[in-house]
Amino acid sequence: MLELKDLQKTLVAPSGQSRTLAHKLNLSVNAGEVVAVLGPSGSGKSTLLKIIAGLEAPDSGQVLFGGVDLARTPTHRRGFALMFQDFALFPHLDVLGNVAFGLMEQRVNASQARQRAFDMLQVVGLAALTAQKVWTLSGGEQQRVALARALITQPRLLLLDEPFSALDTHLRSHLREEFSRRIESAGIATVLVTHDAQEARTMAARGFQLDDGRLTNLW
Ligand SMILES: Nc1ncnc2c1ncn2[C@@H]1O[C@H](COP(=O)(O)OP(=O)(O)OP(=O)(O)O)[C@@H](O)[C@H]1O
Ligand SMILES: [Mg+2]
Repeated sequence: MLELKDLQKTLVAPSGQSRTLAHKLNLSVNAGEVVAVLGPSGSGKSTLLKIIAGLEAPDSGQVLFGGVDLARTPTHRRGFALMFQDFALFPHLDVLGNVAFGLMEQRVNASQARQRAFDMLQVVGLAALTAQKVWTLSGGEQQRVALARALITQPRLLLLDEPFSALDTHLRSHLREEFSRRIESAGIATVLVTHDAQEARTMAARGFQLDDGRLTNLW
């Protein structure tokens, strides 16, 4: 289970103006559960995911997983997968290489990693594009590479930032269902950031609005 305890984060702009993105913020997410975070642009949703992932430090408060405080655990040791809003694919690797990367990091042998990456690419409908350079892909294709890359390492926590925003209606509903099923069966705790209230309600058992550094329970 993920637990955020009294998280505090204030940014100070070069002008000296300060802005609180998290004000004594508390949240827990159980294994296999999806919790949605909605909120206006700039309210700090992506920053919150980066704090959970360990890419940004909170000013105070704790991020715990399974009761363990992660303050001293670097990002790559947390066992989390973060899917960035801008995908952040590796430009020097092809589609298969991007998806297999996390498995290679886990020291899965190369042929097995490639096979599992291929299987995952089939799930997101990209099996025909495995050898393509990622910068030649369309936005929706890149988003699906990022989705495949996030799910393949079997993370204990999945952080999804606008994961289906670039997809057409058909793909979006197909992949929402596919992800919901896998998250539940693999028991992955998931934080879903989205602007799409309908998507949030379909996928998440609980939803919160982030505004002025505070989370308000919506459902
Ligand atoms: N490292 C940083 N340094 C300075 N400002 C930052 C930093 N990270 C985020 N910000 C600012 O903090 C605010 C929150 O950013 P964040 O990306 O978390 O918003 P968001 O809720 O994800 O917005 P969107 O819905 O547009 O994706 C923004 O005003 C952003 O410019
Ligand atoms: Mg964002």
